Amino acid sequence: MPVAAIQDILDEKYVGQHVTVRGWIYRKRESKETIFLVVRDASGIVQCTVKRDNPSWSRAEKVTIESSVTLEGTVKQDKRAPGGYEIAVEKLSIIGLAEVFPITEYKSEEFLRDVRHLWLRSRRMNSIMKVRSEVLRFIHEFFRKEGFIEVSPPMFISSACEGGATLFGLKYFDKQLYLTQSAQLHLEALIYSLEKVYCVAPSFRAEKSRTIRHLTEYWHVEPEWAFADMDDLMALEEDLLSYVCQKTVESCKSEMESLGADISKLTVVKTPFPRITYTEAIERLNSKDFKIKWGEDLGFDEEKALAEDFGGPFFVYAYPRQIKAFYCKTYSDKPDLVMSTDMLVPRIGEMSTGGAREDDKVELLKRLRELSLREEDYDWYIDLRRYGTVPHVGFGLGVERLLTWMLDLENIIDAIPFPRTTRRFYP
Ligand code: 4AD
Ligand code: MG
Repeated sequence: MPVAAIQDILDEKYVGQHVTVRGWIYRKRESKETIFLVVRDASGIVQCTVKRDNPSWSRAEKVTIESSVTLEGTVKQDKRAPGGYEIAVEKLSIIGLAEVFPITEYKSEEFLRDVRHLWLRSRRMNSIMKVRSEVLRFIHEFFRKEGFIEVSPPMFISSACEGGATLFGLKYFDKQLYLTQSAQLHLEALIYSLEKVYCVAPSFRAEKSRTIRHLTEYWHVEPEWAFADMDDLMALEEDLLSYVCQKTVESCKSEMESLGADISKLTVVKTPFPRITYTEAIERLNSKDFKIKWGEDLGFDEEKALAEDFGGPFFVYAYPRQIKAFYCKTYSDKPDLVMSTDMLVPRIGEMSTGGAREDDKVELLKRLRELSLREEDYDWYIDLRRYGTVPHVGFGLGVERLLTWMLDLENIIDAIPFPRTTRRFYP
């Protein structure tokens, strides 16, 4: 007898047939003659009925919410059942009888976070994890289609990519090391062999920020591309985003609908995205009564306000040299500006940062000194400019920020199964 996935039953593949279903008890209701068990598996939920005269009746009486079960029965159409089909149970076996399940209706968000290991069983988290998996698949598909080679960077690193303030230090035998904030520097080494590389890997940020868009551990999509310029870079980013949006809408429509996500904002994503310079962004903000001076970094509020004008993804580029990282390449005709670009979206603000890398050894050394970074900490990185330097670009995009935007999640912590934030590292 086939073990049927519940979704296949609802998709009418087994009408009138005898099937086995394996899963967990999602809901239970008893009447005098019938026990109604809603059973869930990875694919969906289906109602199963056990009649009083069935030898399994006593087991059905005993079974509790979240017990694991195997059942055999016949698939019948029933308009009253959720999904339109139900299983008339002939045999019910309990695999693991559950103790009283702590999650009942009307639990606080805070409580659900404490029992995240159990809350992952909810329909909501099940749908989010499925979309996450598909989004990751389409990201990989996109880069491979574009000829990028997937590489695996280290997580233990000896010097910062994004500045010391957000570095997690750790004791590595008798040495001080750090957890990576970005694979960028190591990806840059790999382009001298492979030209176009990318990775999807964890990044760690000791960020005290408690916002809807900050995690201390997140998954980072990072490509690095030799012989490419800023126009190539922005085209790559917008093509990636529109590819992922279109594909995910096609493949995850029902999950997105059940999550209440606004699908239309994804279907309207069209390239090219609007592009404004940092200087224009400052002018726009000051005309909106923000008091921000040229040279100051854009914060969450500024980014959100800018995004209101565009209603979809857009780029801000050409930032002041003093607010960007040491590796950013300076415009040859504008010494106070660097070739750096952020992609912003409504409600979340920054979703990616990228740019052209300083490929000239002398300029790079100047930048390191300007930012009081020690040359010896970056010696291997400077080697990349000593031996056959080439112009190159790359960017980093946070997977969870992308999902938060795509699925209209209230908080980034729902975009990852076991979120790590300043306050949360259990379970
Ligand atoms: O802007 P960031 O710091 O840029 C870099 O790390 C570059 N080295 C990337 C590169 O060029 N290869 O981080 C890039 C992106 C952000 O735009 C954001 O999407 C995400 O990483 N990110 C975070 N996501 C969740 N929680 C945090 N604390 C994040 N910090 C950055
Ligand atoms: Mg950034």
